[in-house]
Amino acid sequence: MPVSSEPVALGLPLEADRLVLRDYREDDLESLHSLWSDSDVAKFIPPKGPRKEEDTKRLLLKALATQLERPRRYFRLAIVLKPDGEFVGDCVCRVHDPDNKEDLTHLLGEAYIGFFLHRRFWGQGYATEIARTLLRFGFEELGLHRIFAWCDRENVASSRVLEKAGMKQEGHFRESVLLGDEWRDPLVYGIIRDETKV
Ligand SMILES: CC(C)(COP(=O)(O)OP(=O)(O)OC[C@H]1O[C@@H](n2cnc3c(N)ncnc32)[C@H](O)[C@@H]1OP(=O)(O)O)[C@@H](O)C(=O)NCCC(=O)NCCS
Repeated sequence: MPVSSEPVALGLPLEADRLVLRDYREDDLESLHSLWSDSDVAKFIPPKGPRKEEDTKRLLLKALATQLERPRRYFRLAIVLKPDGEFVGDCVCRVHDPDNKEDLTHLLGEAYIGFFLHRRFWGQGYATEIARTLLRFGFEELGLHRIFAWCDRENVASSRVLEKAGMKQEGHFRESVLLGDEWRDPLVYGIIRDETKV
């Protein structure tokens, strides 16, 4: 059954081995902005460059407002450490509106996932844990059939995470993403429900 006609199965917060993925709260602004104002974090993520506080506020407001939507299709979640709730990063699972035929991103899959971690947490396997958790959420809780993700072709760490989570590289688009003033090549990864071993 299409996602849009079902009541949303929430199942939040999501638990990973070492992390919890929970809904944002108003008091997360400072943590979220310390993440997105880091130029290394934002390096490959359009529109490019460290985000201004007003950009982060807009992101947080959207995350908060969409928590109330039914069916809920935008799951922007804070990633926190299990023991003490320390903020690790930001992640998203975005389900497309199947009734919006003009949004051609549905050709890539019913939903996409993405994850963005504070630099001090890189290289410890956290993003792989998050990707697996978001895929499990998409398939088991939301009943999705196919999920995609994309990253800049030079974002080697992100490519590796998507592969480790079981996604396959299916596309290399030429100069389809504008990053600052430069047209970049994204790699598109996909996974179908039956392929998941998460
Ligand atoms: C991309 C990102 C999420 C990865 O997070 P992470 O927690 O460090 O990822 P993991 O530790 O789970 O896995 C990283 C993998 O990439 C590999 N890797 C990292 N940098 C690499 C490089 N320059 N060359 C080759 N491999 C690299 C690591 O060795 C590891 O693979 P392994 O387990 O086989 O050794 C993190 O760097 C980040 O938040 N970047 C900024 C935001 C971003 O670009 N997000 C992705 C959006 S598409």
